[in-house]
Amino acid sequence: MKLAIGSDHAGFDLKQSLKEHFEQRGFAVQDFGTFDKTSCHYPQIAEKVARSVAGGENELGILVCGTGIGMSMAANKVHGIRAAAVSDCFTAKATRMHNDANILCLGERTVGPGLAAMIADLFVDTGFEGGRHQTRVDMMMALEK
Ligand code: RB5
Repeated sequence: MKLAIGSDHAGFDLKQSLKEHFEQRGFAVQDFGTFDKTSCHYPQIAEKVARSVAGGENELGILVCGTGIGMSMAANKVHGIRAAAVSDCFTAKATRMHNDANILCLGERTVGPGLAAMIADLFVDTGFEGGRHQTRVDMMMALEK
């Protein structure tokens, strides 16, 4: 599994710990920054990760900011992206099964590192159910036109 990851300064520590977590699991993790805690702009990182997922360079993406919300709003502006801001395990599974979400957004200020790793594992390990959900995802993606 090829995974894109990125954060702003507010999500840096969680991004680092998730990067290590997935590398230990054997994933190929491409880190789009940020690379230190200097203040930066989350839309710039969101765009890099989103374009790599939308273009097929990576299968899924993980973005971390303070809340996960700014990252999800920015990533969803890129065509082909279905980014979900998630803070619980049920939603992590459901957004893969029903929405075919391709980017997980987490908030370092809202979710601890243990829960974040559990959420991220559920996200990457859960498949899309297709069927009636495919129809709805197709309708959602048609809104981009
Ligand atoms: C940065 O202070 C913060 O605004 C950002 O990380 C994020 O939470 C935005 O949604």
